[in-house]
Amino acid sequence: MSRERPNDLGAFWLPFTPNRDFKARPRILAGAEGLYFRDADGRALLDACSGLWCVNAGHGRKSIAEAIARSAHELDFAPPFQFAHPGAFELATRIAALAPDGLEHVFFVNSGSEAADAALKIARAYWQKKGEGGRFRLVGRDKAYHGVTFGGISVGGLANNRKFYGPLLPGTDDHLPLPYDRATMAFTRGEPEQGANIADALDGLVALHGAETIAAVIVEPMAGSAGVFAAPKDYLKRLRAACDRHGILLIFDEVITGFGRMGFGFAAERYGVVPDMITFAKGVTNGAVPMGGVIVRDAIHAAFMDGPAHAIELFHGHTYSAHPLACAAGLATLDLYRDEDLFARARTLEPLFEAAVHDLKSATRVIDIRNIGLAAGIDIEPDPKAPGRRGYEAMRLAFAEADMVIRVSGDTIALAPALVATQSDILRMVDGVRAVLARLT
Ligand SMILES: Cc1ncc(COP(=O)(O)O)c(C=O)c1O
Repeated sequence: MSRERPNDLGAFWLPFTPNRDFKARPRILAGAEGLYFRDADGRALLDACSGLWCVNAGHGRKSIAEAIARSAHELDFAPPFQFAHPGAFELATRIAALAPDGLEHVFFVNSGSEAADAALKIARAYWQKKGEGGRFRLVGRDKAYHGVTFGGISVGGLANNRKFYGPLLPGTDDHLPLPYDRATMAFTRGEPEQGANIADALDGLVALHGAETIAAVIVEPMAGSAGVFAAPKDYLKRLRAACDRHGILLIFDEVITGFGRMGFGFAAERYGVVPDMITFAKGVTNGAVPMGGVIVRDAIHAAFMDGPAHAIELFHGHTYSAHPLACAAGLATLDLYRDEDLFARARTLEPLFEAAVHDLKSATRVIDIRNIGLAAGIDIEPDPKAPGRRGYEAMRLAFAEADMVIRVSGDTIALAPALVATQSDILRMVDGVRAVLARLT
């Protein structure tokens, strides 16, 4: 039966949202420019998390919109299997140039989740190609977020994302500990000084299983979705060394940390650590068109380039891999990052942002604040009877009363301003959070 119900909120099942409460008190965003959303009544709302960690150059960038429109007119779609279009090569080259030397090849997908899955599959397939198919284990970390596919939730470490979905991917049961301890690290500014040795937990897994069964370790250089956990000083170097000791591939999930969030093209550069693969998404198109991908070390790519010339080397890909509109958006976005020197701008803003967010230490019910790059996590003391309630309430109040769109994960508020933020945007963000925290019951 066909009926028109244009204003009915029932049909759309919102992701990662309490749908019933949302539909009772909807938060509808109708427009965006710079650091501000606009609701249907024209009210301006400060965007405190770059959309969803993706709009790094600010909203409404004309050059990106125009590039997308041009592409839609010129080449709306090109099949990515057996064919290609110029924008895909150009974008891959530009992304590889931002990555550390040696990571030279880009495999495109459409989201961060697909990027994580592609990297995990490439890791396993690589070892098969090398005649070491016994290396099948994929090691993630506690509290990690690598998206929502079965691969991503399996190496991920967030119980709510895993526990409803039955047996997960075989070979993914082991997780390294998150290098964080509130008792000793609360209110650390930037990188915690201690904690590098927590990377040595990989040796324990090797002792348990044998290195010859482990394909790859995947980590976020900064765990974003779980609440902004910076890697302790030298932790990533130590993890790289542990992987090297045991011949294990190291994958950096840079879906959040890529494209300037940490003040560099990739966090790999900030930390001086070269992983074997980097996953990306979000900031690559400034959030304007879905796109993700994996940047792969030359030697891994080379391992696939064998067999008969007519044979497909990697049985993986999507209808929309390297979509022309996404490539156009990506190229225009990279132009903005370069022309406005936005990664350097993020580095300049970082100390100011750090000082501003740590000022919230005195705010009501704040039990920890962490920051790195242009990202901060503010932990609210949970309601012992209802964990997550205060976080949710904070998000709701921020929208309803403080004219802000904030991101919460459980009882943690995450702030991640666009790299074009001004000092006054950042101070407004922090004042808004302080006001919201004071209103929580
Ligand atoms: C580190 C990381 N990996 C993967 C993902 C999943 O990306 P998507 O939501 O585009 O599937 C996210 C999303 O926040 C992420 O933070």
